[in-house]
Amino acid sequence: MGIKNFELSRLIIGTMRLGDWGVKMDTANLESFVEECLALGLKDFDHADIYGDYTTEQDFGALLTIRPDLRDKIRLTTKCGIKMLSPNRPDHKIKSYDSSKLHILQSVENSLKVLKTDFIDLLLIHRPDFLMNPQDLAEAFESLQKAGKVLHFGVSNFTTSQFELLHSYFPLVTNQIEISISHLQPFYDGSLDQCLKYNIVPTAWSPLGGGVLFQDTKDERVLRIRKTGMALAEKYGAQLDQILLAWLMKHPSGIIPVLGTSRISRVKSALAACNIKLSHEEWYELWQASVGTEVP
Ligand SMILES: NC(=O)c1ccc[n+]([C@@H]2O[C@H](COP(=O)([O-])OP(=O)(O)OC[C@H]3O[C@@H](n4cnc5c(N)ncnc54)[C@H](OP(=O)(O)O)[C@@H]3O)[C@@H](O)[C@H]2O)c1
Repeated sequence: MGIKNFELSRLIIGTMRLGDWGVKMDTANLESFVEECLALGLKDFDHADIYGDYTTEQDFGALLTIRPDLRDKIRLTTKCGIKMLSPNRPDHKIKSYDSSKLHILQSVENSLKVLKTDFIDLLLIHRPDFLMNPQDLAEAFESLQKAGKVLHFGVSNFTTSQFELLHSYFPLVTNQIEISISHLQPFYDGSLDQCLKYNIVPTAWSPLGGGVLFQDTKDERVLRIRKTGMALAEKYGAQLDQILLAWLMKHPSGIIPVLGTSRISRVKSALAACNIKLSHEEWYELWQASVGTEVP
């Protein structure tokens, strides 16, 4: 049960911006993108029921319909537990979180149906439901695992105490949290310590700050990060995004970035970033640029 046989590639391919919330890739382009990721050894694709207003899983399912052979070559993560207001979910009257057994079981059935697959490799509870009943949720996980519909379970955006609570009922394999040079909270709030303690790999969403670090800005913090990052990029003969990913991956918990790009060239350059080894002091140079002062 649980952690046995669980593995992830060194980088995860996020799908949030591939469909209606981003570049709206058609099936042919999605097929090439997935094939190219696989050729790079990257087989993890990160979904959520809500992406593209509840349409991106379906877009991916369209690919698996014409290329069912791809299913055995990839690993699918999806998330559930957020009930978004959407024309595609007219029964939702207000945005809310729901981790009740009924909602989780129904969400998984729907994800299986639209993704055109018999099983999900990893299911994450997308956001902590303030009304979460850990016993109820563990029962949902057990029945999904027993039925072979979901192989592994984790959470996303959970505080350390929420993680601890659910993990005591059912073995979780990850906490997918926002971590980047522009979002340092997990270094302070114990999330990364907890992953190290339980030997659980943290996965980082918006590892490049959702792209804001590259956009035109007058924001002093972003400009400081960019200046320091660019100097390091020059030293390593690399790009800024590679330095910022290398910075994340230096952490001993083995943070796995969930990439948000839809360009294969950037996926390739992210993979090359795995070989950049920043020194301890260089890591702190970027930390200092982000915080604005030297460490106390
Ligand atoms: N669990 C959660 O609550 C949660 C929340 C948000 C996201 N996620 C997951 O995390 C994944 C990644 O999130 P994210 O998309 O915010 O990640 P991100 O990698 O921080 O940001 C991606 C954005 O940055 C741009 N970008 C990347 N490298 C760039 C460069 N060198 N120059 C200019 N722009 C660059 C990309 O544009 P291009 O496409 O043009 O490269 C894209 O628009 C999502 O797909 C989703 O799977 C999870």
